[in-house]
Amino acid sequence: MPVAKKVAEAARCSSWIRQMFEEGGRLAEIHGCDKVFDFSIGNPNLEPPNEFQAVLEELVRDPTPGMHGYMSNAGYAETRKAVAAYLAKDQGVPVDGANVVMTCGAGGALNVVFKAILDPGDEVIVPLPYFMEYDFYTGNHGGVLKPVPTRSDFDLDIDTIDTAFNAQTRAVLINSPNNPTGRVYPETSVEALGELLRRRSRELGRIIYLVSDEPYRRIVYDGIRVAPVMAAYDNTIIVSSYSKELSVAGERIGYLAANPAVPRMGELMEGLIMANRVLGFVNAPALMQRAVARLQGVAVDVAPYKRNRDALCEELTNAGFKVFKPEGAFYLFPRSPIDDDVAFCREMQQHLVLVVPGSGFGLPGHFRLAYCVAPEVVDCALPVFREIGAKYFC
Ligand SMILES: Cc1ncc(COP(=O)(O)O)c(C=O)c1O
Repeated sequence: MPVAKKVAEAARCSSWIRQMFEEGGRLAEIHGCDKVFDFSIGNPNLEPPNEFQAVLEELVRDPTPGMHGYMSNAGYAETRKAVAAYLAKDQGVPVDGANVVMTCGAGGALNVVFKAILDPGDEVIVPLPYFMEYDFYTGNHGGVLKPVPTRSDFDLDIDTIDTAFNAQTRAVLINSPNNPTGRVYPETSVEALGELLRRRSRELGRIIYLVSDEPYRRIVYDGIRVAPVMAAYDNTIIVSSYSKELSVAGERIGYLAANPAVPRMGELMEGLIMANRVLGFVNAPALMQRAVARLQGVAVDVAPYKRNRDALCEELTNAGFKVFKPEGAFYLFPRSPIDDDVAFCREMQQHLVLVVPGSGFGLPGHFRLAYCVAPEVVDCALPVFREIGAKYFC
């Protein structure tokens, strides 16, 4: 076998999202791009805000020597400080530059965190459904993901989470606004989770971290506020990126930030910085670090996403689908009209509409649409949803 068994197995069960995305490319070659309606991948279709271009132009002309060299593995002090100032305000907690590590996106940050905190066999509790890369990100570092059901409205089910703890539990991983549901966990749920984590840490006699994956924090609708996780629980590590809020997913820039209240903070930061180095990231991209230092608080205008969300929710609901109206991110996670969500997605594919089975997120019986697409893609796909709705619900 040319590759390790574990990798061969991972590649075999590889992401539905990628499979559908690649299928989209194949179908587009046969039928033409304008005939294929691809809702498979969360690749933002909006261009970055103008401020991003302006800052880049300034930076590439900057004659300061050493702009492209190595730096501290944690990132530029200036950038860490800027991120910390933004977070301190947002979280209501005195985050300092020393609590921040710049990373290669949120995906890189999650790998750094899990490498730093997991011993072999340590468990990470995650609410269902969840972003399937989490399986790999924990597995990469000897961890075991432990999925737990959520409520019917995809809110955290604190009692169920409570039953999932044991001596191996090292972290609870949440993602709000959520991929794939669009749920933003209410502040009361996050506070209740903090309370539960305090009690369980005491009982189990070990630090249990709350890892909060927040790349969609700025993609929210109708003025909803994303709860400040650091205010709810001391042992919190936030993981985030600019992939979605600045539409720069290919640039691989993100960060992690530990709550300054974490005990033995120095050791934790040392472990995180070391993990960033030895995973081979070394440091986050230099140019992007300089750019985001000057772009704190800047984000894409979410109006086009909201327009897509509203059109899809209305039409799918009218067509008979059961849909939770997303409060954030750019995903819709309706119930599949048949139990076999994979078969349903194949049926949609025959109509040249590409959606991803809920099985790909650990929750069969649903399907996911990524609506970070041009409005015409939504408008052209709506008749297909009407037709499918008429077939199954009338
Ligand atoms: C929930 C979630 N976490 C993490 C990531 C990874 O983001 P990044 O591009 O910043 O690595 C994604 C990307 O789609 C995501 O949906």
